[in-house]
Amino acid sequence: MTMIYICTGLLALFLLRKIQVRLQLSAAKHPSLTGHSRMARRFAALVPFYEYGEDRFFRADEAPDPVAASRRAGFMRLAGVFEQRFAKSAAMTAELQDAVSDLQFTSRYRVPFQFSRYAREQLRGGAFLESSSGVTLTDLDGNRLYDLTGSYGVNVFGYDFYKECIARGSEHVRDLGPVLGAYHPVTVYNVRRLKEISGLDEVSFHMSGTEAVMQAVRLARYHTGRRHLVRFCGAYHGWWGDVQPGVGNPLAARETYTLKDMDEASLRVLRTRRDIACVLVNPLQALHPNANAPGDSTLVDSGRSAHFDRAAYTDWLRKLRAVCSDRNIVLIFDEVFVGFRLARGGAQEYFGVPADIVTYGKTIAGGLPIGVVCGRRDLMKRFREDRPADICFARGTFNAHPYVMGSMYEFLQRLDGGPIRATYRDLDVVWDARARLMNDRLIEAGLPLRIANLSSIWTITYTQPSRYNWMLQYYLRAEGIALSWVGTGRFIFSLNYSDADFAAVADRIVSAAAAMQRDGWWWQAPLLTNKAIKRRVLKEMIQARCSPSMGSMSSPRSR
Ligand SMILES: Cc1ncc(COP(=O)(O)O)c(C=O)c1O
Repeated sequence: MTMIYICTGLLALFLLRKIQVRLQLSAAKHPSLTGHSRMARRFAALVPFYEYGEDRFFRADEAPDPVAASRRAGFMRLAGVFEQRFAKSAAMTAELQDAVSDLQFTSRYRVPFQFSRYAREQLRGGAFLESSSGVTLTDLDGNRLYDLTGSYGVNVFGYDFYKECIARGSEHVRDLGPVLGAYHPVTVYNVRRLKEISGLDEVSFHMSGTEAVMQAVRLARYHTGRRHLVRFCGAYHGWWGDVQPGVGNPLAARETYTLKDMDEASLRVLRTRRDIACVLVNPLQALHPNANAPGDSTLVDSGRSAHFDRAAYTDWLRKLRAVCSDRNIVLIFDEVFVGFRLARGGAQEYFGVPADIVTYGKTIAGGLPIGVVCGRRDLMKRFREDRPADICFARGTFNAHPYVMGSMYEFLQRLDGGPIRATYRDLDVVWDARARLMNDRLIEAGLPLRIANLSSIWTITYTQPSRYNWMLQYYLRAEGIALSWVGTGRFIFSLNYSDADFAAVADRIVSAAAAMQRDGWWWQAPLLTNKAIKRRVLKEMIQARCSPSMGSMSSPRSR
């Protein structure tokens, strides 16, 4: 009898502990849909397609007739500018559109879907460019555009720098050509420098940042014998399934915990669970913790927020470092984006916190495709001395391609040169001052947008509730500014922007926003709050779901 009581008691304790650990996990999830991957996927599957016809396009916020008319006039003027200025680029884009799925995707997801078709049809900027020089790009029609795309973050030092890396790097390896499997001698220098920069023992080469992250996580799982990875809410680590749970991935990522960034509840999970192999940190999230990368296609209202607090994020990384060390969890810094943008030694140097494994990519091969993993020797090993059949497999046909190694060699050599060292000096002082200057100008001009920045990575936030903030990307384009498909969500400056270049961009941002304001897109009414906008959009979705025939609000449906 006593035995039964003891067993029942032990079972109860065991169950209670399980429940407690589960509750801790729930408490560490961010309350938003971004924090709940499965729910987000289910919600996304329920969102019905509908779109605004020509009339509703201009008054989705119930603006009065004169405002709608002013918007329409401004829009048509812009359409005329686009048609005339980007004719060749737009024609060539149209030729490619049906056959390139990536192009279809990016052009469709530039603005909220209700507005997408009409905007796409009327404002065709084109997806082709002919050349780059300094901080500008030239399109097929001969327009010179200031580049704020940053080529997805690759362009840290200016395109001319990368052209030289590729040209000189190719000269180094020309005699070997595309021979794979063996290494070109420049690789020795690259590995030595990568070890010095990362402060870590071993290096592996891959073809993309996504692959580097896959390998880092696989190694962490292999060496810890645990299955789960922790990523923080909103963080992007490439498009591999395990690091991209939620919307965009048709499968649930079962071995991924998405936890709240900069939150004590997440540290509690790391302290208690025994199934966590690694924690992935993308330091870019310091600019918008717990939120997805900002893109204009999700700019439904003016709720986008961003703010970088270096001291708070450093403190967070230190806490993560401590708990990972205590619990033998592998701390991975995914520096594919921020790597050489924040400091010569990357985020480890910038925040003064060391990681166990670091992934690099984008810029580090001097403009050619790359992913790099640097790690502690015990974590990088892909086999076990005592169990020869138990290996951690990773290959890749093009890894350490001679041309990539040649270009990386040039990149790393230049990193040590005087001009680049000078660029890094006072980097934050320069870019924070420029962001302040920009904000002062926006305030002075009475414009409802502000800049938040992590060094040279900027995002625009909007200070007045509006359904039309995404229109700014088109006004900016008309002013000669090139943005990536995420629009005003991310401005990526290359570090070769001079004060004069920057002043030219600042002028254009102010004129673009002033024109947009004049055209009435930021019309205000007391009842037009962010909450009211969200409520209205939700209502529209419910209506569209209940009566699918209303796919187009006041114009024929076209998908
Ligand atoms: C932090 C981070 N990790 C990984 C990746 C994926 O790199 P790639 O696009 O080279 O696969 C990206 C790409 O933007 C990134 O920003």
